[in-house]
Amino acid sequence: MFKVKPKNIAYTDTSKIHSDYTEKMNKEYNWMAKGYDAFMTVFPLWKNWIKNVMPHISGKKILEVSFGNGYLMTQYANENYEIHGIEYNQKMLAIAKKKIRKRNIKADLLQGNVEELPFQDNTFDTVINTMAFTGYPDGEKAMRELKRVLKRGGRLLIVDFDYPKNRNILGYMIVKLWEKFGDIIKDMNLLLTKHEFEYEDRSVGGFGSVHFFVATKK
Ligand SMILES: C[S@@+](CC[C@H](N)C(=O)[O-])C[C@H]1O[C@@H](n2cnc3c(N)ncnc32)[C@H](O)[C@@H]1O
Repeated sequence: MFKVKPKNIAYTDTSKIHSDYTEKMNKEYNWMAKGYDAFMTVFPLWKNWIKNVMPHISGKKILEVSFGNGYLMTQYANENYEIHGIEYNQKMLAIAKKKIRKRNIKADLLQGNVEELPFQDNTFDTVINTMAFTGYPDGEKAMRELKRVLKRGGRLLIVDFDYPKNRNILGYMIVKLWEKFGDIIKDMNLLLTKHEFEYEDRSVGGFGSVHFFVATKK
């Protein structure tokens, strides 16, 4: 398959990101929230991508950041986990709360921002974050927070878009399309390395554009 030149693997220029980015995206999520369940039904690949995290959840105290409609939570929840969740969008939060109530799942779900997680340092055994990191304006701040609340030896499980390792054109185009939609493509390997995680980077779909990072806090 045709390969993109290394010089074209360019990450989003964050100097052009406006300070009200999160609020702007939030307005989009307001109208997306109602259709999100339907989107996942007509595009089941999405479910498969995010469900990759399930066998890697370890320990008791679990935090899911940006859980959206709460679908993934309904899949991994069991009586051994104490589940906490943070989601920025109020409508998504309401949908997720309704969903877990209907299934008798116990989880403490709160509105909040990844950049300011309302938890003490070293609290969680596993932190889950799926298809959300490219929607954060400041990857550095977000990664610092995800790491801070994670216990030493705890797991950070991230599923999101990044360029395909083999630079194939189809995966590259998917990433570019996502960027066109307004997301911020970040060099996840650089961020995880900078924050001293030990990690594995697996390609789980989208011609290598959907990555699953299984990271451990040293
Ligand atoms: C594409 S959805 C992904 C939802 C779900 N995790 C999934 O895999 O389907 C991204 C979610 O991130 C949330 N989000 C965006 N910015 C956020 C922030 N700064 N803090 C917390 N959540 C945020 C959005 O409200 C939205 O629900």
